[in-house]
Amino acid sequence: MSRVINSDANIFMDDMEKDSIDLIITDPPYKDYQSCLGVQKCKKIVKNEFTFETLIGHIERILKSGCHFYLWCDALTYADAFNCIKNSKSLKYKNMLIWVKNHHGAGDLFGGYAHQHEICIFGTKGKGNKFQVGNKRISDVLLKKRDDGTIGYYHKIPPKFGGHPTIKPVELLKLFINRSSEIGDMVFDPYSGSFSTMKASIELGRECIGVELDSEYCKLAPEIT
Ligand SMILES: C[S@@+](CC[C@H](N)C(=O)[O-])C[C@H]1O[C@@H](n2cnc3c(N)ncnc32)[C@H](O)[C@@H]1O
Repeated sequence: MSRVINSDANIFMDDMEKDSIDLIITDPPYKDYQSCLGVQKCKKIVKNEFTFETLIGHIERILKSGCHFYLWCDALTYADAFNCIKNSKSLKYKNMLIWVKNHHGAGDLFGGYAHQHEICIFGTKGKGNKFQVGNKRISDVLLKKRDDGTIGYYHKIPPKFGGHPTIKPVELLKLFINRSSEIGDMVFDPYSGSFSTMKASIELGRECIGVELDSEYCKLAPEIT
């Protein structure tokens, strides 16, 4: 059954059963945790160390053999995430997926390029099950191909609409869930934020356990019936 857990992900994962999860999609906080409530000024509520090494260790233990994981990271943390996966005994690195966003952030106009993408590592435990749907190979660049042949974006949701600063589009997550799980499977997101993974999972008939440290963000979770 789907569950919203207001807890520290590490503490929760310590108690999870081995080989109990069919799909992991997660977007960890990378650095020391800071809570940014909506568009308000960032306020630090608790310092919580995050390491990919610990997360990868948990993924290796709780994911069923052959199942898939999707791990969001950024240009600065990608190498660390990649190395932890490569050093693990059973996880396999498969792809670097690029989500191209419909806009880019502010920054140095004359000394750097504007960031317009996010990185998601796709991997498997062991050899990896085949995708559940789709007879066509899709690109590792995550752009929408419309029926009329034109290309569109999976739009970024502004924090003022979604209540969280780093929301991943539910429609994009559905693409991962459809390819990497079956109806009734258990999806897990230890760093849920706005609970986008849970929303996508439930809409597709999957179960989902979502963990989030910030009780304010837990209010963004969908109602579980
Ligand atoms: C990058 S955001 C996830 C955003 C999410 N993918 C979405 O679409 O809304 C990371 C989340 O992890 C939460 N977090 C940070 N440290 C945590 C911890 N130790 N345990 C559980 N959640 C934590 C933060 O509050 C934040 O909401």
